[in-house]
Amino acid sequence: MTPKIAILGAGPSGLAQLRAFESARQAGLGPIPEIVCYEKQADLGGMWNYTWRTGIDENGEPVHGSMYRYLWSNGPKECLEFADYSFEEHFGQPIPSYPPRAVLQDYIMGRVEKSHARKHIKFNHAVHQVEYSEQTEKFTVTVMNHTADRVETDEFDHVIVATGHFSTPNVPHFKGIDHFPGRVLHAHDFRDAREFTDKRVLLVGSSYSAEDIGSQCYKYGAARVLISYRSGPTGYTWPDRFNEVPLLQRLEGNTAHFADGTSEDVDAIVLCTGYKHYFPFLPDELRLRTSNRLYPRGMYKGIVSEHNPKLMFLGMQDQYFTFNMFDAQAWYARDVIMGAITLPDADAQAADINHWSEREIALASTDDEIEFQAAYIRDLVDATDYPEFHVEAQGELFKEWLIDKRDDIMGYRNRSYRSTLTGSIAPPLHEDWLSILDDSAEYFLANNLPRSRKQDKRLLSRGAKLAVNAVVPPVRGRVAATAERPPRAAR
Ligand SMILES: Cc1cc2nc3c(=O)[nH]c(=O)nc-3n(C[C@H](O)[C@H](O)[C@H](O)COP(=O)(O)OP(=O)(O)OC[C@H]3O[C@@H](n4cnc5c(N)ncnc54)[C@H](O)[C@@H]3O)c2cc1C
Ligand SMILES: NC(=O)c1ccc[n+]([C@@H]2O[C@H](COP(=O)([O-])OP(=O)(O)OC[C@H]3O[C@@H](n4cnc5c(N)ncnc54)[C@H](OP(=O)(O)O)[C@@H]3O)[C@@H](O)[C@H]2O)c1
Repeated sequence: MTPKIAILGAGPSGLAQLRAFESARQAGLGPIPEIVCYEKQADLGGMWNYTWRTGIDENGEPVHGSMYRYLWSNGPKECLEFADYSFEEHFGQPIPSYPPRAVLQDYIMGRVEKSHARKHIKFNHAVHQVEYSEQTEKFTVTVMNHTADRVETDEFDHVIVATGHFSTPNVPHFKGIDHFPGRVLHAHDFRDAREFTDKRVLLVGSSYSAEDIGSQCYKYGAARVLISYRSGPTGYTWPDRFNEVPLLQRLEGNTAHFADGTSEDVDAIVLCTGYKHYFPFLPDELRLRTSNRLYPRGMYKGIVSEHNPKLMFLGMQDQYFTFNMFDAQAWYARDVIMGAITLPDADAQAADINHWSEREIALASTDDEIEFQAAYIRDLVDATDYPEFHVEAQGELFKEWLIDKRDDIMGYRNRSYRSTLTGSIAPPLHEDWLSILDDSAEYFLANNLPRSRKQDKRLLSRGAKLAVNAVVPPVRGRVAATAERPPRAAR
């Protein structure tokens, strides 16, 4: 009998799973399972589906989104290209290497629309409980259908958890923070850097959120940006108005005291202290418990639950690679479910998990980490018919990206890289990233697609067509005419 599977979440990972099955259908690879994808938001795209909301969403569910206005890709787009759908195919020609969020969302959507994934997705359906019966060997999934305002249940042979892991904030306490007179928020609730124009902002944490939210605050005119680190500073050469300090020890009024005995007055605190893997809908024995790391234990091939092989997880790793890693995982999960891959016995699975975990523990540098994740993806890709996308070459691009960031943390987004799929080198960004205050897809595409191509609308996606229709002159140093024009940072 054809199995029935539930995919939880329609972000890039859940969508990868839907496309994996669609690709099997198109290739005529045997009976395709019956698929239901539950998505608690009103549309697909996961984290890339920007929301202004914070806290609780319109349905009373925790807000999923952690992205903010003016967010640009923090890695080269050449490192996240889908193997079977290049940026060049989507936009009709090469575009710069670091696009803003809305442009990446357009790319994700373009591929999804081609795959008819929507028909499987039940939007506004929040998964509240998953149970497994040893007797029936089936999962019972309970969801809140917010459109119909009723609780529904259904039975499945397999469950694939693709609910992401950057939505439940890790919020440490610091002495005196409860009496701090200014705004305190976690990065999850950060939405608009203009809130901090002319303010002195303290960021706790020294990873991607801290460096990017700090850069945003600087770009939009914060008076001072302090990064307070636990393990070590970012080490970038930050511009004036920026400083890195050891860990925050306590707050007295609006004075922040740091581990080296220094102190500084601040107006706002953003806790860039990472996220928790949180699966409240899973029973204790099936819940994945891990920190944010490259090889979370508990899953064979980083996918199949070692407690129940009918339960799988996608995208649970810390991420250098994103979209194409989720694809590689989804193709693998598909082949396990459809029987093209036979899982080894529990001992062999445990040995494989140990092997990868030990390799992970031995990693000594960020270059090692990149090579490790590339090797992990290679292992998956070689086991399925997922198209070749030169993952090792993309790993080399990531290493260049690290150097470019070290070189110029405020300017690395001006750099260009070569696509491993098409061989094209990305054109330069039309203007210095630091001076582009409008992050809309319309502004980006109107300024980065040459006129000849702009006129050939047949080749462009919906988002790109919108952009072409927006008449925005590509004038250096000018912000496109938008309803809201953010202030230019004083540099
Ligand atoms: C601030 C920020 C910036 C980032 N920037 C980049 C970047 O520049 N480049 C990059 O490649 N990656 C970036 N990432 C990483 C990003 O997480 C991945 O690109 C990608 O979105 C992960 O896909 P996912 O599907 O695994 O998870 P998500 O995108 O988080 O999607 C999970 C989906 O599951 C749904 N869901 C969750 N719980 C439930 C439930 N109980 N019931 C039903 N549905 C549920 C959510 O609504 C969501 O749609 C960034 C992440 C963050 C937090
Ligand atoms: N596109 C973009 O520009 C962009 C922007 C933001 C985020 N992102 C993505 O979002 C994801 C999450 O990044 P993230 O930076 O939020 O999380 P993260 O990479 O997991 O880093 C968490 C940070 O919090 C610190 N921390 C944790 N607990 C702490 C405590 N109790 N006290 C002090 N510091 C503490 C950690 O310090 P230690 O180092 O000591 O552990 C680390 O620096 C990444 O995939 C990233 O790529 C992308």
